Amino acid sequence: MTDLRGLPKLELHLHLEGAAPPAFIRNLAARKRVDLSAIFDEDGNYAYRDFPDFLRVYEAACTVLTSPQDFHDLTLAVLEQSAQSGIIYSEAFVSPDFCGGGDLIAWRDYLAAIEVAAATAEAQMGITLRGCVTCIRHFGPEQARQIARCAQETAGGFITGFGIAGDEAQFHPSDFAYAFDAAREAGLGLTAHAGEWGGPESVRAALEHLHVTRIGHGVRAIEDRALVAYLAEHGTVLEICPGSNIALGIYPDTKAHPIDRLRRAGVRVTVSTDDPPFFHTDMHREYQALADAFEWQAEDFAQVNQTALTAAFCDAQTRAALA
Ligand code: HPA
Ligand code: ZN
Repeated sequence: MTDLRGLPKLELHLHLEGAAPPAFIRNLAARKRVDLSAIFDEDGNYAYRDFPDFLRVYEAACTVLTSPQDFHDLTLAVLEQSAQSGIIYSEAFVSPDFCGGGDLIAWRDYLAAIEVAAATAEAQMGITLRGCVTCIRHFGPEQARQIARCAQETAGGFITGFGIAGDEAQFHPSDFAYAFDAAREAGLGLTAHAGEWGGPESVRAALEHLHVTRIGHGVRAIEDRALVAYLAEHGTVLEICPGSNIALGIYPDTKAHPIDRLRRAGVRVTVSTDDPPFFHTDMHREYQALADAFEWQAEDFAQVNQTALTAAFCDAQTRAALA
């Protein structure tokens, strides 16, 4: 069998805060004298019951990330883990909401600290990080406009994309069209979480109203044959996170997950981890599970990584260096 760990990997869907090792958050909480014991289980892992509870725990963990230095240290810790899985390029969702509450001046400071850590990691570990500014759906369209402004003002170079995460059951994609239009005008690549908790109609609405070229998850498109054909025909890229979907109970196991069926139907699929410590995963484990369930071989993973390379929002020079 191929050495899956050593295989160079590209990851397009990773939430920077969601990748925080529990020990990292626990240490910050102790230093800042914040009691976060309720969000950890007896083994020290993040403890949540379901997706709404996951979002609550996620946001509670973020309350101890209160300075640019915290985000600097977080970025280094996350990239260290990523590099150990063989990741050479990572596109991470970064959230001005958790970096000063959407204030533009604060956001610039936090972003500068993240970029310093990214440069250190690139020099020391050979991993390239780019940022995709993300707004949070359940924080509402007004706040999303402010987040888009942060994205606009810092677009180019490190910040390459704009996205939306959070509770897919709240609001409608059309409510966020203004924010996405602003991000598009700033030259950013666009992606939206859809088809995770919402069905095919949610994916259709994201495509129609936000004009994204990538969909975060998108797996429930499998429930609509015409939509699958549309995605294949238009080359829409799905940022698929099988371990996340399984941990959150959307599918019982890898064999039941639609990634292989979507790929066979001609949809451009990529593989990511989403929030690795929350879902007890990493990229190596994701690859191993796909190899076990679907007998994916080195050439299948090479194709998935080629798709990620062409779909990455980074500039041509960065892409060429990764090829
Ligand atoms: N879905 C929606 N919002 C999120 C996720 C997710 O999987 N992870 C972090 N924020
Ligand atoms: Zn996500």
